[in-house]
Amino acid sequence: MATINKNYNKLQGSYLFLEIAKRTKDFLEKNKGVELMRLGIGDTTEPLSKAVISGLSAGVKKLRKKKTYTGYGHPQGKIELRNALVDFYKKRKIDLRPEEIFVSDGAKSDSANIQSIFGQDNIAAIMDPVYPVYLDSNVIAGRTGELKNGRYEGLVYMEGNEENDFMPPPPEVKVDLIYICSPNNPTGSVATKNELAAFVDYALNRKAVIIFDAAYAEYIKDESLPKSIYEIEGAKKCAIEINSFSKWAGFTGVRLGWTVVPEDLVVEGVEPGKVISLWARRQSTMFNGASNIAQDGALAALSTKGQKESQKLIAYYMGNATLIKQTFSNLGFKVFGGENAPYVWVRIPPSLTSWEFFDKLLREAHVVVTPGSGFGLKGEGYIRLSAFGDKKNVKRAMKSIEKNFKP
Ligand code: MLT
Repeated sequence: MATINKNYNKLQGSYLFLEIAKRTKDFLEKNKGVELMRLGIGDTTEPLSKAVISGLSAGVKKLRKKKTYTGYGHPQGKIELRNALVDFYKKRKIDLRPEEIFVSDGAKSDSANIQSIFGQDNIAAIMDPVYPVYLDSNVIAGRTGELKNGRYEGLVYMEGNEENDFMPPPPEVKVDLIYICSPNNPTGSVATKNELAAFVDYALNRKAVIIFDAAYAEYIKDESLPKSIYEIEGAKKCAIEINSFSKWAGFTGVRLGWTVVPEDLVVEGVEPGKVISLWARRQSTMFNGASNIAQDGALAALSTKGQKESQKLIAYYMGNATLIKQTFSNLGFKVFGGENAPYVWVRIPPSLTSWEFFDKLLREAHVVVTPGSGFGLKGEGYIRLSAFGDKKNVKRAMKSIEKNFKP
């Protein structure tokens, strides 16, 4: 008799962004003709850059001719692309080898799957509020007990709050896997070098592994802030870094990301390089490599022209972030993030839960946001606004909030 993986029963409701989509659809069914302004999910809206389009087109053209056609590629990704990523890191004075880079279909799947190469009994630490994928993937894998009062047994929560600027210090107890997202989704805060160094110290001392999600790193303007955990000495011994072309090169639909597993990574009881071979084994068994067309697009995104064009895209979205930040500040809200990150995190009045606030904004201003409680217990009391919208739409949304919303 087949049975299900009962860990799925431990998950809370549906995946956050599906729940938002459902509530939005229900609202539209009851309010036909209303035009919504969507600042919920962090999904890009600007077209791909010229460089990326020509890279993708060249990729398609190659598939038209027998001589240049390719089927399955290298499971870790095209060597040209991995070499380009090596150069990308070199500009940050980080030396990597192409063998340490795994190209994938995006940071979301890698950040969900990476836990599978670690022991079932490993204790994971996540921030709260948190991007739900790190949490749910560990729940599904059976690394937690039941959910009680908004917290899973067996997980360690690192609480982000206004006092620590939503970048909590390493846990006081011993954990084995630590998830860090910086620039942070959802709060828009960014870890300083010292803050990351404290995590690296912790991990080296306790033989823990950091899973560092750098998907928003290109949004960092402040040059003193680290874009990669490998800017911190010793990090190659204790950190895996996950990144993506989605948010800075517009690949949310095209799909492409990468994960760095350093040769020097130390894990209890195994020789250096073992983690690379485990991830290679996992990926070659369960994944057939990223789309060859998408990889040609990514190669173009990494070219000088591609990176220059992406800077314009980033500036465009950050213009939205500034506008969102200003509007909510002017309305008297306390606002966080939105300076080196494309998310704005807003404190809401205590009289409403974040889902109630979500519903009220939808009803009164026709604006979709993300309720903070969707990111965990400590997200309650806040909402998140994404800066990835179309500029006109974001302007309309802010005007509508100013005019129609009665906080
Ligand atoms: C978000 O809105 O948090 C992101 O778009 C989700 C994701 O990147 O998977």
